[in-house]
Amino acid sequence: MNYIIILAAGKGTRMKNDTAKVLNLIIDKPMIKYIIDTIKKINLGKIICVIGHKKEIVKETLGDEFLYAIQPIQNGTAKAVLACENLIEDDSGYSLIIPGDTPLITPDILESLIETHNKNNNSLTVGTMRINNPYGYGRIIEKEGVIKIVEEKDLDSNERQINIVNSGIMCVQTKELFSSLKEIKPNNNSSEYYLTDIVQEIGLNHKVGIFEINDSYKAIGVNDLNMLSMAEEYLINDKINQLLKAGVKIQNPSSVVIGIDVIIMPGAVILAGSIITGNSLIKRNAVIGPNSEIIDSVVGEDSKVRFSVVVNSSIGNNVSVGPFAHIRENSIVGDNNRIGNFVEMKKTTTKKYTKASHLAYMGDCECGANVNVGCGVITVNYDGKFKHKTVIGDNSFIGCNSNLVAPLNIGKNCFIAAGSTITNNLENNDFAISRCEQITKKGYAKKYKMGE
Ligand code: UD1
Ligand code: CA
Repeated sequence: MNYIIILAAGKGTRMKNDTAKVLNLIIDKPMIKYIIDTIKKINLGKIICVIGHKKEIVKETLGDEFLYAIQPIQNGTAKAVLACENLIEDDSGYSLIIPGDTPLITPDILESLIETHNKNNNSLTVGTMRINNPYGYGRIIEKEGVIKIVEEKDLDSNERQINIVNSGIMCVQTKELFSSLKEIKPNNNSSEYYLTDIVQEIGLNHKVGIFEINDSYKAIGVNDLNMLSMAEEYLINDKINQLLKAGVKIQNPSSVVIGIDVIIMPGAVILAGSIITGNSLIKRNAVIGPNSEIIDSVVGEDSKVRFSVVVNSSIGNNVSVGPFAHIRENSIVGDNNRIGNFVEMKKTTTKKYTKASHLAYMGDCECGANVNVGCGVITVNYDGKFKHKTVIGDNSFIGCNSNLVAPLNIGKNCFIAAGSTITNNLENNDFAISRCEQITKKGYAKKYKMGE
C-alpha cells in the first residue's frame, strides 16, 4: 500500500489573514483543492491529509472522502508527517509527501517523480527545482555524494546563493520515513522539527536521490498573498491560452477571469471584464459580457449575457439576458427567452419564448411558455415568515406593475390587467383586474395647479 500525505496543518502566518492557509482561494477554489483534484486524476495511493490549525473548517471544506491526521501543535513539517503514523496500515510501499501550498503541481510531475523513485530504487527522492529567486526555500546542498537540505533561516552567506531548492514534494519508503522522523531534533534557528532533516538521516544508510522538476513554477510554494496572486495569474493565463487555441474568442484577456474547471465550447465569445467560475459550461456561440459574472451555471448555444450576474442557474439556447439582470439559486431559463434590464430571478423556471423584458422580480416561480411578464411585475413570494410559490400557465399575459401574491396559481392563456394585485387563483382563460377605480374630476387640474 502507498500513501499520499498532504501537509495542511500550518498556520500560514505569512498570509496575514484569518483564513486557514490552505483554504485561501485561488480564483474560485481553496488552494488545497487544486492539489486534491490533481491527485484524484491519478491513482497513486491512499490520501491522508494532515490538519491542525483551524482543522474543523479545513475538514468541512474538503469532505470525508479521505483520511485525516491531526497535528495538535504546529511545530514543524516533520511532526506533521509523524501525526500520520497511526493511520499507516502497511509500511511496505512509499509515501508521497506534498505540502498543501503547491497548487500548480500537475499529475505528470508526480507520476514522473514516483517513476524515478522506483526506477532508481531510492529510499527517498526529493523533488527539486532551479529558480532565480530561491528566497524562502530549503536549499539542496550536495557534498561528496551526501545530500542535505538547509532551510532559509539556517543558511550561511555562501549557501544563500544556491538556487537549487526543495519543492517540498518528496517520495519516501514508508518504513524509512517513520523510523527517521523519530530521530529528528529541533536543532535549528526556528526550533522546529524539519521534515527536510530526514534527507541526511535516511542518507546515512539508504539511497537518496533527487528528481528535478523542469517547469519550476509548477512546484512553487504559496506562502503569502504575493505568491498567491502569481499562482492565480498563471492559472488564468494558462486557461485562457487553452481556450483561445480551442476556438473560444476572448476580448482583452487580461480583463477576463476564467476558473480552471470551466468548460467553454468553440465559437463562444467572452467579452472584456467577464468572470466565469466554478463548474460553469458555456455552449457554442454564446456571448458572455461585457462585464458579466457566471458562477456554477450553464449558458446555452447562441445566448447572450450582457452586464449581468448568473449564479447556480441554467440559461437555455438563444436567450438574451441583461443588461443588468441577476439570475440565481437554481433558476432555469427556457430557450428563446428574453430577460431584460433589472430583472431578478430566484429559484424560478421558465419554459420557451417567455419574456420579462424590464424591471421584474420573479422568485419561487414556475412560469410556462410564451408568457409576457410586464414591466414592474413582482412575485410576492415572502410573507415575512415563509416563501411561497407562484405558478403561471403558458401564454398568459401579466400586465405591468402587477403584484402576484403567492401562493398563487395562474392558469394558461390568462390576462392580468396592469397595476393589479392578484391574490386569488385564476383558471385557464381568466381575465383579472384588481385596482382602485379611477376618479376623474373634469377640468380640475388647472384649478389645482393654480392653488385656487
Ligand atoms: C517547506 C520546506 C522547504 C521547501 C518549501 C517548499 C520544511 C522544513 N521546509 O518550507 O525546504 O523549500 O517547503 O515550498 O519542510 N505544515 C504543517 N505543520 C507544521 C508546519 C507546516 O502541516 O507544523 C504544512 C503547511 O500547512 C504547509 C506545508 O506544511 O502546507 C509547508 O509548510 P511551510 O511553512 O509553508 O514551509 P516552508 O517554509 O515553505
Ligand atoms: Ca511553503
